[in-house]
Amino acid sequence: MSSVWAVLVAAGRGERLGSKRPKAFAVLGGRPLLAESLERLDGIPRIERVVAVVPPKWEEPSILCAEEVGASKLTACIVGGETRTDSVRIGIGEVPQHADVILIHDAARPLLRRQIVDRLLGGLGEGYDGAVPGLPVADTIKRAPGGTVVETLDRSELVAAQTPQVFAAGALRRAFADADSCGTDCAALVERAGGRIRVVPGDPDLLKVTTPEDLAAIEQRLAREAR
Ligand code: CTP
Ligand code: MG
Repeated sequence: MSSVWAVLVAAGRGERLGSKRPKAFAVLGGRPLLAESLERLDGIPRIERVVAVVPPKWEEPSILCAEEVGASKLTACIVGGETRTDSVRIGIGEVPQHADVILIHDAARPLLRRQIVDRLLGGLGEGYDGAVPGLPVADTIKRAPGGTVVETLDRSELVAAQTPQVFAAGALRRAFADADSCGTDCAALVERAGGRIRVVPGDPDLLKVTTPEDLAAIEQRLAREAR
């Protein structure tokens, strides 16, 4: 059985959410957003240990939050960087060399379920360096740099990528060692470094908190889950 470590990135400011606190500390169902992912990652048996990457000055509240939800797999809680890529790189740096697989998850997607992690881990191997959850795309997507359409993409080939994403640790480390700080998803860096990424079915409930409206929608789903 391979050793799977998780890196939970939670160091963003949450500018589009517009709350006073960083997004990971926005309140969802009466507790910080961060609590949801910490608790859920902790409850997934295949995950051995968790590294949390948090905003400057928020290490202590993050550790307290982990204690409150009994997240005993939390091994390191460190301050992130200016971009998501920087934060992931810092997180990966805390994962020991003996880890075979690294899972990267955004605290901004609180409704993590065990099934998706199982699907992702099942998708690794067979020559794949990583696996990501993908959802079908409902809209027709056009490439329109500067506001002029240059291409309409074939929707049947498109997927919207979510987190968590899992990677063979070596492939992920190599991709991040070479990368400059761009890209909104880790898989893109691994792809650019020549890695093969598999897509597994995503989870439509694994919504991302970006704006205040998202928080309300996710709170509804959380309440439905609890019933
Ligand atoms: N993230 C991070 N470090 C950064 C930027 C983002 O760890 N410097 C994390 C966020 O905490 C979040 C995930 O990456 O869990 C996805 O980022 P995003 O949804 O863009 O969150 P924010 O950057 O916080 O939000 P915004 O872009 O609105 O400021
Ligand atoms: Mg951001």
